[in-house]
Amino acid sequence: MASHTGIGSRMIMSKSVTFMATCLLVLLISVDASTINIKNQCPQTITACSASQSASTACYVLGGGSGSQLIDVGSNWPGGIVWGFPGSSGNPVDGNNAKPQANLAEFTIGASGQDYYDISVVNAYNLPMQIDAIGRAGSGTNCGTIQCSIPNVTSFCQPPNTLTGGPGNGCYNHDGPNTGAPTQGTQAFKNVCPETITFTTDTTGTVYGCSTGTNYEVVFCY
Ligand SMILES: *[C@@H]1O[C@H](CO)[C@@H](O)[C@H](O)[C@H]1NC(C)=O
Repeated sequence: MASHTGIGSRMIMSKSVTFMATCLLVLLISVDASTINIKNQCPQTITACSASQSASTACYVLGGGSGSQLIDVGSNWPGGIVWGFPGSSGNPVDGNNAKPQANLAEFTIGASGQDYYDISVVNAYNLPMQIDAIGRAGSGTNCGTIQCSIPNVTSFCQPPNTLTGGPGNGCYNHDGPNTGAPTQGTQAFKNVCPETITFTTDTTGTVYGCSTGTNYEVVFCY
């Protein structure tokens, strides 16, 4: 009798443990997943693209003023980037050609309890960009908004930096990829966009972080 009761309650206990574990797993998955809402507040139509270490380039045509695309990057998005270029191409080949001519929103989602993000102009700048942390804003290290806007790329882009032409229509950061210290060329970017990474090792104060489960917005022309 006593052993029957014991087995019965152990079975009930094990079922409820399984149920609780399932609930916890569902909770963890839903809490840790992130979305990135890409918004186009520029007056003109743009194409926005995303890629990561595990996902090839996907591009979206976003109408001027209020076009948007929500991407669900799950709970693990290593080496994720978002960038844009003018026009309604929507083509990933054009997107890949525009990538080195553009500023990048860079994300590492789901790295041991912490997300990291930054705006990089190491290669170039082409469109005003803002990253917002929403949902869990305030948690984590330096969890907040990053902005970069250069009103007139043509007048900004002075030697050694050069205009890229299409499809990105940006300004190449001539020294950005190759220097370990600021140069006249990288400093021109730093002066107007102090919150961005302007050369490869320019990571002090420019890499932001929030707890996993935070959602983000990348806004073109904030
Ligand atoms: C941007 O700068 C260029 C070169 O100085 C100038 O010709 C052009 O008119 C400017 N564009 C705007 C919109 O101000």
